[in-house]
Amino acid sequence: MTWKSLLIVFIFSSSQAMAIAKKQISQNEFNQLYEAEIKPLFAKSCFECHSQNNELPWFHNLPVIKEIMDEHIAQAQKHLDLTHGFKNYKADQIQFKLDLIAHTVRNDLMPPKSYRLTHRVALTEQDKAAIENWIAKSRSLLTLN
Ligand code: HEC
Repeated sequence: MTWKSLLIVFIFSSSQAMAIAKKQISQNEFNQLYEAEIKPLFAKSCFECHSQNNELPWFHNLPVIKEIMDEHIAQAQKHLDLTHGFKNYKADQIQFKLDLIAHTVRNDLMPPKSYRLTHRVALTEQDKAAIENWIAKSRSLLTLN
């Protein structure tokens, strides 16, 4: 190898490394933004079903109700498990989760209507605006490379 081709290899691999490092930084920023601004909202309205660290209400111990709730929770977590936030997802998986969240928030689908009858956990207009804003910011962070 001549020194020129060595130099080319060096420049190429360091720019690759930089691109990977940059991606990592923007994903870390995304995670911080989630923890600071959105996690508290989701803890109030979503975690009972979408996280494994949920605090279930006393009536979860009643027979039949327990079965119905457990089934609901298992379904919810199959679609979206936020136990560890988004830390275990890759950027493209996060983008997909964001699409689903945007869809449910815009169409007022979550938390499910039946659940809102018995829990005061509906998202307020302010919550929804904060989530939309977070999704927009996150999309630009995650597409940086
Ligand atoms: C009472 C339990 C419950 C709560 C609370 C709840 N969800 Fe869900 N969620 C479900 C269930 C069950 C499903 C899967 C079946 C369905 O789509 O209805 C689901 C599915 C989803 C999906 C996937 C939709 C799809 O099309 O694949 C998203 C995204 C979601 N929920 C977001 C949220 C958000 C955001 C919150 C809080 C604002 C929330 N959920 C609160 C039960 C819940």
